[in-house]
Amino acid sequence: MSPLWRRIVPRSMRLRSRLRLKNGRWRLATPDRVMLEDVIVPEFLGQEDITRVLDVGVAWYTRTYPRLYRGIEYHTIDVDPAMQRIAGPHHRTLSMTDLATVYPPDTFDLVMCNGVFGWGLNTADQVARGLEASANVLRPGGWLVVGWNDMAGRRVPDLDALAARHFDRAVLPAARADHLVTPTHYAHRYDFFTRR
Ligand SMILES: C[S@@+](CC[C@H](N)C(=O)[O-])C[C@H]1O[C@@H](n2cnc3c(N)ncnc32)[C@H](O)[C@@H]1O
Repeated sequence: MSPLWRRIVPRSMRLRSRLRLKNGRWRLATPDRVMLEDVIVPEFLGQEDITRVLDVGVAWYTRTYPRLYRGIEYHTIDVDPAMQRIAGPHHRTLSMTDLATVYPPDTFDLVMCNGVFGWGLNTADQVARGLEASANVLRPGGWLVVGWNDMAGRRVPDLDALAARHFDRAVLPAARADHLVTPTHYAHRYDFFTRR
């Protein structure tokens, strides 16, 4: 964004241009967010065996997600205690790497990990620990979605090799592919896996 644009257009107005109104709520309108909310999440909501989900990482633009995931049990964690205030009713302040200290094995049918690898868990070792912890709390056959930015400074090191320790790549029916790349300047993509 040009410095001139920043100077002459108030922040509130710039933000409004990146928002969309959906089901009576303001939501981020970036292509990666629309892909998540309009394609990926509805696919899982339509699967009968998805009844309990863990969403890793909370942000102001995920405040509406308890509603987005309505009809299934929606849990969240965030390592930052400040996120408790804006999270839904089933929230814990916790690192993804420590999931097993709170949740028993086979607790979840889906772990949604969007914007955490590269945004907190950055090294190969940290990513590996996050993946292993997810595998521990997912039932066999449960889904893992990893959303990340395929760009310098955010790229996840060796995601495929690390995930292959516990997960198989899986085709998401709505995407007809095991990954989706969104048309964003930060190259946001989603990769789909199931737990072995
Ligand atoms: C870019 S936001 C992503 C929010 C949301 N998941 C989404 O769909 O965009 C990153 C969030 O992940 C949290 N986070 C970073 N490392 C974490 C970890 N090890 N465990 C849990 N949350 C973490 C941060 O505190 C921050 O709130």
